[in-house]
Amino acid sequence: MTFPAHRPRRLRRTESLRRLVRETHLTVDGLVYPMFACSGTNVRREIRSMPGIFQQSPDHIAEECREAAALGIPAVILFGLAEHEDETGSEAAAAHGAVQRSIEAIRKAKLDLTVITDVCLCEYTSHGHCGVVKDSEVLNDPSVALLAGAALSHARAGADVVAPSDMMDGRVAAIRRKLDENGFQDVAILSYAAKYCSAFYGPFREAADSAPQFGDRRGYQMDPANAREALREVALDIEEGADIVMVKPALAYLDVIRHVRERFDVPVAAYNVSGEFAMVKAAAQNGWVDEKRAVLEIMTAIRRAGASIVLTYHAKDVARWLEAC
Ligand code: PBG
Repeated sequence: MTFPAHRPRRLRRTESLRRLVRETHLTVDGLVYPMFACSGTNVRREIRSMPGIFQQSPDHIAEECREAAALGIPAVILFGLAEHEDETGSEAAAAHGAVQRSIEAIRKAKLDLTVITDVCLCEYTSHGHCGVVKDSEVLNDPSVALLAGAALSHARAGADVVAPSDMMDGRVAAIRRKLDENGFQDVAILSYAAKYCSAFYGPFREAADSAPQFGDRRGYQMDPANAREALREVALDIEEGADIVMVKPALAYLDVIRHVRERFDVPVAAYNVSGEFAMVKAAAQNGWVDEKRAVLEIMTAIRRAGASIVLTYHAKDVARWLEAC
């Protein structure tokens, strides 16, 4: 049977009918708010290409975490800026690092907030790569050892979840082993399992001062052309002990999110990255798109694709808009 018996518009006629048949529901529950931590006190510098997002010292990080928690956002993810960069990114594992200090400040504030930390070396290395470099090559195994050390320092400072974003092979297993050996068997791992080599990280590299000084990241991050390979990466990370797996970026990879959701049973996260945020902000500031509608549509699309957890710089705005609904 077809038209005129079937008229799909019948169920779109009123807002209550639309609510009744809606398939995807946005809530604040899966939102993660990314933040940039730097050393010092009373520092709060807005990032030029990311309006409303700041590089902040631990005191301000804790303050904004209080705001995020009050809005009902369940988690934040912290990125660190190095005071001193070096060849091996040694500050990544320093007990006095900006991330480690920020976790302590958040803990002191006694908030009902999950603290996730990004584990990578690119913010801390002088060459800006996510691992140790020798003869212009990013070495895998020596990098993995350093990443595990960084993850341990985050756990010691009080992180609930560590999130390796480097894309070295075997890092999830190494981090799991290191955490367990040191009594942190309850610290979870969110792996950036399928992280693509993307142009959409542009603003982040300004925010975290992490642009590679030579070459690019194609030797470790994934080729945007590959979806089957993402499933293999995710399978390996789950085998190695990942508790949550992530696809990144989100919008150009909704098909990958869907494939991962269908194939695996662990929670799936997606990262609505800096470039995706900056495009919406820039267009909205020019009056070319309605920011609220565009952002809520993007959030709905990422959820509809299958991600239950969404890392997004829009998190506070989304929480406010959902509260007002
Ligand atoms: C570090 C890292 C990056 C992002 C998260 N962790 C940048 C990169 O890989 O170059 C990007 C996040 C964003 O763009 O919002 N490896």
